[in-house]
Amino acid sequence: LAASFGDGPLRGMRVLVSAGPTFEDIDPVRYLGNRSSGRMGYAVAAAAAAAGAEVCLVSGPVCLEKPVGVARRVDVRSAQQMLDAVLTEAPRSDIYIAAAAVGDYRPRAPAEHKMKKSDGQPLTLELTENPDILSTVAALAHPPFLVGFAAETRDVEAYARGKLERKKLDLIAANQVGVGMGFETEDNALTLIGPESSEKLPRCDKRELAQALIARIAAQFHARRN
Ligand code: CTP
Ligand code: CA
Repeated sequence: LAASFGDGPLRGMRVLVSAGPTFEDIDPVRYLGNRSSGRMGYAVAAAAAAAGAEVCLVSGPVCLEKPVGVARRVDVRSAQQMLDAVLTEAPRSDIYIAAAAVGDYRPRAPAEHKMKKSDGQPLTLELTENPDILSTVAALAHPPFLVGFAAETRDVEAYARGKLERKKLDLIAANQVGVGMGFETEDNALTLIGPESSEKLPRCDKRELAQALIARIAAQFHARRN
């Protein structure tokens, strides 16, 4: 056990990180997914471990290895599975960082067998909204310190602040996404927004950005406790 607690600003803390996309099955061979590589979330998990935390990483389908120092990785596929895994871990976590790109909708009734084309007819998929993982965790009796992410293509700060309030978060890390930015890239820039604060973390390598983010989260987490 001692080996999983290093030295640093999150020494002795349990940190839960969710990362990657979710895949929502349409039939046994197809799914709805999103453009998340998981790199930012994995970098955040690695940085939290390096800061001394015992880290549990709940991961959607990605092509990444469990980062060195991360105590546990729980693999999931769909938003519902991610919710279940997060709800299992959240009550014993001090901090939950939601870096996953959760699918907002899933096919209402996935087909049991591979769907077939039918003579050039258009296909309509009926979708149903997925549960909001962060809001569900925020509604627990003793929620952990909650950090969300918001990827936006416009009006980044305004939308992110709205999510901070609606989801009852302690912090939200907002970034502009679009062509050549944010997704499937090696670097990223974030604006870290709290109820009474806003700070820009300039564009850099996702690993460095994650370290800066963890330093701010640790500071605000301890400030909140004292
Ligand atoms: N999130 C979540 N559960 C969902 C959807 C999102 O926990 N079902 C989390 C994400 O992990 C992220 C934050 O909420 O930390 C914001 O995600 P985002 O997709 O930007 O927000 P939404 O509320 O889904 O709003 P929209 O996609 O309409 O902008
Ligand atoms: Ca969404």
